[in-house]
Amino acid sequence: MSSEKIGLYPGTFDPITNGHIDIIYRGARLVDRLIVGVFNNAGKGPLFTPVERQAMVEAEITALPDRKTAARIEVRLMDGLLVAYARTHKVNVIVRGLRAVSDFEYEMQMASLNRSMEPDVETVFLAASENHQFISSRFVKEIAALGGDSSAFTTSRVIAALHARFGTGDKVESGAASKAY
Ligand code: COA
Repeated sequence: MSSEKIGLYPGTFDPITNGHIDIIYRGARLVDRLIVGVFNNAGKGPLFTPVERQAMVEAEITALPDRKTAARIEVRLMDGLLVAYARTHKVNVIVRGLRAVSDFEYEMQMASLNRSMEPDVETVFLAASENHQFISSRFVKEIAALGGDSSAFTTSRVIAALHARFGTGDKVESGAASKAY
């Protein structure tokens, strides 16, 4: 039996933010292999398609300075029940980031439901770093849609993709986005 510890960090990543990147990196250092699960989550009405979101996450992992850790991270498109995927792929831990108290109830609910469906898979919460406490994909999108500067919350690649999608920002950034993804 393999003793490899496999982690799964699920999310919608619409789009990936600095908060997500921080959790991906820190999560990857806790396990032998980290799978980042990009969920379709059509119910959330995502701005980017699952394939676009996956490409964005992959681009950010490629840009991680710690290449040894990055080499242990893989990005997969997912749909359906999280614990079903975890069971099939022998996942040991589900990794989630926890921001201010507002996340607590939702995250506790998900963790306990997942645990009752699949008791062998633990959920591990990583406290979001101080400077990421108030980031959310929704606000990053809103700021970009209104032509604001969201460079404190996500990367230049993601910002370029957002401006391209919304038709905001300058033309150079829009060109970069179509190349990046
Ligand atoms: N720092 C900053 N922001 C963070 C963050 C961090 N560390 N972690 C999460 N966020 C933000 C995201 O930007 C996002 O913001 P938004 O709501 O404005 O878009 C929000 O917190 C949550 O997003 P995310 O972490 O991507 O998770 P999600 O709630 O969209 O996705 C799944 C949750 C995919 C885990 C859940 O839908 C799931 O398990 N789906 C599969 C179906 C299933 O098994 N259902 C039963 C569950 S009991």
